[in-house]
Amino acid sequence: MRVLGIAGSPRRGGNTDLLLEEVLKGVAGKGAEVKTIALNRLKITPCQHCDACLEAGKCRIQDDMQGIYDELEQADRIVLAAPIHFMGLSAQMKAMIDRCQCLWARKYVLKVPPLGDDRPRKGLLVSVGGTKYKDLFDAGRQVVKSLFTVLNIEYAGELLFEGIDEKGAIARHPDALNQAFEAGQKLVDE
Ligand SMILES: Cc1cc2nc3c(=O)[nH]c(=O)nc-3n(C[C@H](O)[C@H](O)[C@H](O)COP(=O)(O)O)c2cc1C
Repeated sequence: MRVLGIAGSPRRGGNTDLLLEEVLKGVAGKGAEVKTIALNRLKITPCQHCDACLEAGKCRIQDDMQGIYDELEQADRIVLAAPIHFMGLSAQMKAMIDRCQCLWARKYVLKVPPLGDDRPRKGLLVSVGGTKYKDLFDAGRQVVKSLFTVLNIEYAGELLFEGIDEKGAIARHPDALNQAFEAGQKLVDE
C-alpha cells in the first residue's frame, strides 16, 4: 500500500506539518510505503482555465504539478494537510486542488478513471486554525470533499484542531499527535 502525504503549509515544521508527520508515522508502522510532498517548495501555477484538458485529459502547464499527478495515480491513500487561511485552505493547497481540473475532465468529459484505474482509494483531511471561529473548517472540508468525490477517493476522516496558532503549538495539545498517529494506523487498516 502506498500513502501520499501532501503538506500545504508555508511553514515548514508548523502545526499541520507535525500532524502530517505523525499520521505518516502511524502509516509507516503498519508497513505501508510513504511519500511526502511539501507544496510550498514546488512551483504550481494556478489553473489557467484554458480548457486544453477537456480534450487531452492532461494539464498542459509544465511545472511541478506534473509529478503530483503521477503520485496521486500511484497512491492508495492520500492525506491532505493544510492550515486555515482566511477561512479556507492555504493557497498552496488550493492551487494544487484547482490543477486537478484535468482529472475532473478525465472523469466527466472523457469518461475514463480520473486516476488511471479503479482501485479503492481513501483520503484524510488534516487542518488547523488559529481561532475558534464558528464554521472554521467548513469551507476547507467542502473543497476537499469535492476533490475526493471527483477523484473517486472515499473521505475516510478528518483531524481538525482549532485555537492552535503559534508554530509548534500543536505539540502541546494533550493528545493531537497521538490522534494523528492513530488516524494514520486506521487509514491503512481499513
Ligand atoms: C494568511 C493567514 C491567514 C490565516 N487565516 C486564519 C483564519 O481565517 N482563521 C484562523 O482560525 N486562523 C487563521 N490563520 C492562522 C493559522 O491557521 C494558524 O496559525 C495555524 O496554526 C497555522 O498552521 P501551520 O503551522 O501548519 O501553518 C491564518 C494564518 C495566516 C498566515
